Parts: sequence; C-alpha cells; structure tokens
Amino acid sequence: MNTRFCRTCLFALVVLCVSASVRAESPLGEQMDVMKNAFRSLKTAMEAPVDADKDKYVASADELRSAAIKAKEFDPKKVGEIPEGDREQFLADYRQSIDQLVALIDQLKTQLAAGDWDSARAQMRLINRAQGDGHEKFRSEES
Ligand code: HEM
Repeated sequence: MNTRFCRTCLFALVVLCVSASVRAESPLGEQMDVMKNAFRSLKTAMEAPVDADKDKYVASADELRSAAIKAKEFDPKKVGEIPEGDREQFLADYRQSIDQLVALIDQLKTQLAAGDWDSARAQMRLINRAQGDGHEKFRSEES
C-alpha cells in the first residue's frame, strides 16, 4: 500500500471517530429516544384505535413510563450551564417535572385500558405540552 493511501485512510478514520464522539448520546438522551418511539407509536395508534389492541397500547404507555422513570436518574446536560448555586434547585425541578410526566402517563394507561379513546387523545396532548415545557426548561441548545 502506498503512503498516500495510508494517510488518507488514517485521516478518514480520525474524522469518523471525532464525528461519532460529537454525536455520542447521553444516557438521558437514550431514554428520551425510547420515549420518542413509544409515544410516536401511540400517536399513530390513536388515529384509528381498536378495542382488540388495548393491551398493546397499554404496553407502549408502560414503555414510555419506564423510560421516564429511568430518565429521572440522570442529570440533563444543561446542568453544566447553570450557576453552581442554582444547580440543586434546577435538578429538583427537573425531577419534579418527570414525576408530573409519570402521573400523566398513569392516567393515560387507565384511559387506554378502558378504551376511552377521546380522553386518551386529550391526555396525549397534555403529555405533548409537558414535553415542550420540559425541553424548554431543561434541554440545552446542543442536546
Ligand atoms: C413524551 C414526552 C417526551 C419525549 C417523547 C421526549 C423526547 C426527547 C428526545 C427525542 C430528546 C433528544 C434525545 C437526544 O437524541 O439527545 C429529548 C431530550 C431531552 N429531554 Fe425529552 N422528551 C419528553 C419529555 C421530557 C420531559 C417532561 C423532560 C423534562 C422534565 C425532558 C427533558 C429532556 C432533556 C433534558 C433532554 C436533553 C438530554 C440531555 O440533557 O442529555 N423530556 N427528549
């Protein structure tokens, strides 16, 4: 192999490694991705829900719930941008917002199990709002 080819390969490898590490997801980001998929599948399902699939919907809401519970254990990246004296309050607020999200998901589970689709759809709008508020307050620009 000639030297020029080796140098090009080495350069390509370095570029790949750097871009992978820049995009490396946080443990919190990973749970948020699980939440995104579970919530998306519920949104699609609620466009034309069927009684026979109730259990599947409840299982998706459960996935959303357990990812939210796991997300509560991690600190948002944004904590690094918060002045040291305010960090404890920031994290307490973050965990309280996740608790509120879990309470919303619990209500959603009850509505899905009852086949109360209108209430479930309204509840999902509340969850959407909680997501928007949560991201505005706790998500940093680059996450
Ligand atoms: C169903 C509701 C929610 C969904 C589907 C959702 C989804 C997501 C997604 C897809 C990301 C980007 C993940 C990545 O690739 O980095 C994200 C990030 C984030 N979300 Fe959510 N989210 C929801 C609710 C919330 C709530 C209620 C909060 C706060 C209490 C929150 C806090 C955050 C934070 C802090 C990040 C940035 C990750 C980090 O700092 O490491 N999310 N979320």
